[in-house]
Amino acid sequence: MIKNAAEIEKMRVAGNLASKVLIMIEDYVKPGISTEELDRICHNYITKQLDCIPAPLNYRGFPKSICTSINHQVCHGIPDKRILKKQDIVNIDVTVIKDGYHGDTSKMFYVGKPSIQAKRLVELTYEALSIGIKTVKPGATIGDIGNNIQVFAEKNHCSVVREYCGHGIGKEFHEEPQILHYGKRGEGIELKEGMTFTIEPMINFGKKEVKLLPDNWTVVTKDHSLSAQWEHTILVTKSGFEVLTKRPEENI
Ligand code: MF3
Ligand code: CO
Ligand code: CO
Repeated sequence: MIKNAAEIEKMRVAGNLASKVLIMIEDYVKPGISTEELDRICHNYITKQLDCIPAPLNYRGFPKSICTSINHQVCHGIPDKRILKKQDIVNIDVTVIKDGYHGDTSKMFYVGKPSIQAKRLVELTYEALSIGIKTVKPGATIGDIGNNIQVFAEKNHCSVVREYCGHGIGKEFHEEPQILHYGKRGEGIELKEGMTFTIEPMINFGKKEVKLLPDNWTVVTKDHSLSAQWEHTILVTKSGFEVLTKRPEENI
């Protein structure tokens, strides 16, 4: 669970490369493009420009190189022929492997101009991620992260998805510990310098319940309400945290 200095350096490299994919794809996320096309562009960039492996491809049978989750889709959407249209919101989730180590990050994109509700949900979910990240320091617990995210989301009359969570990350895509986005202050294990994990809250505009579609991957809200998610890979440092997948536009 604790990474040494050499491993941390590799995690920094992998995290930074994952962030570059989200920066690159931004210009392509426009009305009229299919999610399959976004997958193709990311796949080529990851393999040819970055010389990385796209971790989702063939992971437990997942057929594509990125996840694309639109509107009421919560996570793990499979890129396909569906065409993005004005007012859609889409999460693109990228995980790359470089030199044996994983970097995992996702962001929300607006397709055209968003509705007022969609913008509110997307911004609030980013804020939930930021709040979670700012909780990270040695001695804080996993429950502290989850509690801070949950209290913030619910104060804003939105709900936190329970079935999926953040995760330790390193040589493996999903390692211990699980990082829940809800919970009680002081519960769970204490964070220690050198741990690397993701925080990736999924926040629904309506109720928290989700269901799995027959494709066995795509998760959607039961009540069909909009859902948003943002994800970063985080390192616990001596004094707090480092965001390994931070983009230049971000000040966290
Ligand atoms: N990137 C997702 C996560 O944040 C996992 C996707 S698994 C896949 O943990 F198989 F769907 F790619
Ligand atoms: Co993740
Ligand atoms: Co991810």
